[in-house]
Amino acid sequence: MVSNFISFIHKDRIVEIKNPDPNETLLNYIRVKLKKTGTKEGCAEGGCGACTVVLGELKNNEVNYKAINSCITLLPTLQGKQLILVEDLVSKDGVLHPVQEAMVSCHGSQCGFCTPGFVMALFSMFKNYSKFKDDVIKDSIAGNLCRCTGYKPIIKSAKALKNKNRYDHFRLNIKNTIKLLKKINNKSIRIYKNEKKYFAPRYIQELKKILKKNINADFLSGGTDLSLRITKERKDINSIIYMNSIRELNFIKSNNEYIEVGASTPLIEFEKYIKKYYSDFTKILKRYGSPQIRNVGTIAGNIATASPIGDCLPLLLSLDAKVVLQDLKKTKILYLDNFFMDYRKTKLKKGQFIYSIRIPLYNKNTFKAYKVSKRFDDDISSVCAAFNLKIVKNKILSARIAYGGMAATPLRAIFCEKILINSFVNDETVMKAKEALEKDFKPISDMRASRSYRIEIAKNLLEKCCVEIKEKKLIGLYV
Ligand SMILES: Cc1cc2nc3c(=O)[nH]c(=O)nc-3n(C[C@H](O)[C@H](O)[C@H](O)COP(=O)(O)OP(=O)(O)OC[C@H]3O[C@@H](n4cnc5c(N)ncnc54)[C@H](O)[C@@H]3O)c2cc1C
Ligand code: FES
Ligand code: FES
Repeated sequence: MVSNFISFIHKDRIVEIKNPDPNETLLNYIRVKLKKTGTKEGCAEGGCGACTVVLGELKNNEVNYKAINSCITLLPTLQGKQLILVEDLVSKDGVLHPVQEAMVSCHGSQCGFCTPGFVMALFSMFKNYSKFKDDVIKDSIAGNLCRCTGYKPIIKSAKALKNKNRYDHFRLNIKNTIKLLKKINNKSIRIYKNEKKYFAPRYIQELKKILKKNINADFLSGGTDLSLRITKERKDINSIIYMNSIRELNFIKSNNEYIEVGASTPLIEFEKYIKKYYSDFTKILKRYGSPQIRNVGTIAGNIATASPIGDCLPLLLSLDAKVVLQDLKKTKILYLDNFFMDYRKTKLKKGQFIYSIRIPLYNKNTFKAYKVSKRFDDDISSVCAAFNLKIVKNKILSARIAYGGMAATPLRAIFCEKILINSFVNDETVMKAKEALEKDFKPISDMRASRSYRIEIAKNLLEKCCVEIKEKKLIGLYV
């Protein structure tokens, strides 16, 4: 079924909007059209969390709750989901939600501007976890800024939730919510409004038909990069194809040789899956934006931006990942090594889209990755480094090393690799390999880091990697 109106659930009812503006943000709809002003606008670029709302999505007959930044979410992407605002947390009889109650009793609010965003981030935690350990709390509010409380009372509120009854009015009403979500979940969307077009296909075949007639359309996945063209650059996007509505692109699978991640798989799901194969990948993803960003952002979106400071990219390069591309007729598989052409330029051609990413499995290698940024959470890298080494009897047999933040694209450290391969891990090798990095990279100075700082950090991360390998006696493991 194809429709020109979107349907979503709000306050236990199906809401329909005919021909919504494809460039309207969810935040604008909430504050201006719904006149619900609890949700705030701070930065309009996904960085402060003041606009956090929660979406409920049907998955395996259950509702999956996700905190998102409504300021960079385009309204039509609400199709098929449940919208939960801070105002909706209070029950019909006026009883505060346990999260709100905790924030009140622990004095988690002062001026109050950030409070609705924190409440929604904590509500998402409340719905997704059964135990609220320190790391879960810290991660859940990593995307929310507060300038008054010093965070302590907010963390105290989150900890206080331990003793609360996890049943809330959403849980009591869950059967009805699932029934309504099933009712609205079966349609593709095509909107033509004021010269703007928006398509949300449900299948790859349908996507290809749309592409045939709309070869210049922009692909929208999580929108954590693309939407900023509207909210920050104040530009229109005239033709959008929403990729996250295609379930065939949302998968993770593995065989003995590689892990394959579908283009539309949210980073938050990938970060859980990859942990048992490459725990440092998860470590980096935990510091990637915030849960709000990772709940919608995708690995395909990260790759397609070709940003020199895209966090997945050096890691994928060092693991020798491949990108699976499709167009109207063919499938093409490219090594990521050959995919980035120049600053924010890739080999993607018009009408071609990323179908998946394949990440090889190295059972006998050591994989390490590091991110250095000005702020620990919710900040883009100054430098990101990834090391994939095979070491036997203290000798490095293979090395793939890649850095972000050191060149116009994420890049391998080829000279450094050459020094390492067939060398023993010792101080002399490390020193020579560090020097080789100066041949590999001529970074620029910008607001994130100076050129000399980047070079120094790149060298230090290499040394850190080698020291950690020695300290953990990992070398012995591969004798
Ligand atoms: C607050 C904030 C914090 C951030 N923090 C980080 C961070 O820590 N590390 C980091 O690396 N990045 C970060 N980013 C950047 C952003 O999250 C990434 O670039 C993200 O991976 C983009 O993915 P997306 O799914 O949201 O892509 P979108 O924004 O939907 O799309 C990005 C680009 O990819 C194209 N595209 C999307 N899907 C496909 C496809 N299947 N095939 C072909 N092209 C496609 C789009 O057309 C667009 O050009 C942050 C962004 C914000 C707003
Ligand atoms: S307004 Fe700052 S994250 Fe949305
Ligand atoms: S209470 Fe004022 S910004 Fe958080």
